[in-house]
Amino acid sequence: MNGCSFRVAVFSGLKMFSGVPPVHLMWSNMFDPKRPKVQKAVDWKRLGRLFLPYWKQEAIVISCITLVALLGLLPPMLTMNLIDKAIPSGNFQSVLIIVGIMALSAVGSAAISALQGYMNSFVGESIMRDLRLQLMTHMHKMPLDFFTSTKTGEVINRVTNDVDSIDGLVSGTLVMILINIAVIITTLITIFFLDWRLSLMSLAVLPIMVGPLWPVGRRMYEIRKATREKRDEMQAIGQETLSVSGIVLLKSFNRETFEYDRYNKLGTELMKSEIKLAMVGRWFMALISAMVTLGPACIWLYGGWLCIHSGITVGMVVTFVSLLGRLYTPVASLAGVQIQIMSALAVFERIFDYLDMEEEKDDANSPKLKADAGEIRFDHVSFAYPNGRQAIVDVSFRVKPGQMAALVGPSGAGKTTISMLLPRFYVQQEGTITIDGQDVREVGLSSLRENIGIVTQETYLFHDTIFNNLVYARPTATREEVIAACKAANINSLCDPDSTTRPSSTTKMRSAWTIVESL
Ligand SMILES: Nc1ncnc2c1ncn2[C@@H]1O[C@H](COP(=O)(O)OP(=O)(O)OP(=O)(O)O)[C@@H](O)[C@H]1O
Ligand SMILES: [Mg+2]
Repeated sequence: MNGCSFRVAVFSGLKMFSGVPPVHLMWSNMFDPKRPKVQKAVDWKRLGRLFLPYWKQEAIVISCITLVALLGLLPPMLTMNLIDKAIPSGNFQSVLIIVGIMALSAVGSAAISALQGYMNSFVGESIMRDLRLQLMTHMHKMPLDFFTSTKTGEVINRVTNDVDSIDGLVSGTLVMILINIAVIITTLITIFFLDWRLSLMSLAVLPIMVGPLWPVGRRMYEIRKATREKRDEMQAIGQETLSVSGIVLLKSFNRETFEYDRYNKLGTELMKSEIKLAMVGRWFMALISAMVTLGPACIWLYGGWLCIHSGITVGMVVTFVSLLGRLYTPVASLAGVQIQIMSALAVFERIFDYLDMEEEKDDANSPKLKADAGEIRFDHVSFAYPNGRQAIVDVSFRVKPGQMAALVGPSGAGKTTISMLLPRFYVQQEGTITIDGQDVREVGLSSLRENIGIVTQETYLFHDTIFNNLVYARPTATREEVIAACKAANINSLCDPDSTTRPSSTTKMRSAWTIVESL
């Protein structure tokens, strides 16, 4: 039954490719989501480059796998010796020696497997860390437009779930393939070396044994995928309705019943999927159990005939039967692995696609902004959002150094848009924007933003201490500077930079903190 548990483990480790949830989100569908499309062929070189830095550990993994595959051949071979020679000869000492070697090989193989497991996890998790970091850093460099036009849930889904879903491939599946191939090759060589007739018989039985597992595996995969999609949808609803703005909207429009129905429908579908999965799993187990008995039965039949008529030994037949497991189990695992690889590759494409999106342009050679006086000029500026919405048309104004200017206008007039153009979160199509005579398009992005303090309409505090939130804009700020800024923002009575308690979340206070931050 050894083979049986291994086979199931392989299938239950099947990681699904997380599709974009096809859910219609209520509040985030305002703008056309600009989703990257996956069209490219798999970039094997790029995939390989992820593994390259860890070639030394990978070499150790491969050596361990080969060693364990070879050691695994010892017990069946020794069994043959035991049955055909040691026991019939009546020499208990040889029995002891053979059993001793068997035990040693089992212990050795377990130790080597442990080392291989460690190295394998090291490589897999290192690659995952590299990929997560690369993706997150890249996301932070994406232009604002990307975030306004993509569902938040989707971006987070990619950065977390997508990456997680290839973890299985990187740290499990690939090594599983190598192990199976090593076991198959070593076993094939051994059985043909032992007896070619029984070997041919074993190979002939192979399709009968492995064949039925394939459609069942596929069915399991499909149900799992459906289950995953339902979970994604439920997660998306949770993310939207449980956010502060979402819950306020839900409550103010009395949408509790609607949300109840929606969640109930999804929950019931998920429940049905899970039951189906459990049932297919049960059939699958039954099938495997039947196969595990049927394969050896065929070998016993033919082997028994050969024993009687052709003079091969009983030990040989026993060895063959135990070697069978080393042949069928890996073949069955490899039959199901293609789906895992294909789905993981699809996710890799999605990730690479994200990594290939153009980052916010920041030319390192651009001159730095020199803001001495701080005069701001908008000169015949027009701007349309990437979706074509014309937000401002031919706007000109001047804010004198030190002047306090306010933009007043109805909702949707373009006030926020104007404030976004100055730090170049967006770039206008027409006209020029200058700070002290320097065009904001021509100065370095970081120097531009360093010189602009932004207090957003919706203040946002990171889940950190007051002090760390206060110095977010300028990590080098001293304690004295922070206190001075607090005084300037008129919140010094609330401000204890040493406090480790988290910031209070009343809106007024949050705004005050943000002002301090920007100061
Ligand atoms: N990311 C975006 N993509 C497309 N259109 C947008 C985007 N953000 C705003 N708009 C549109 O641009 C116009 C100006 O919006 P803006 O947010 O600048 O107005 P506002 O004056 O700040 O309004 P409010 O007083 O409501 O904050 C509106 O018609 C708005 O629908
Ligand atoms: Mg606004």
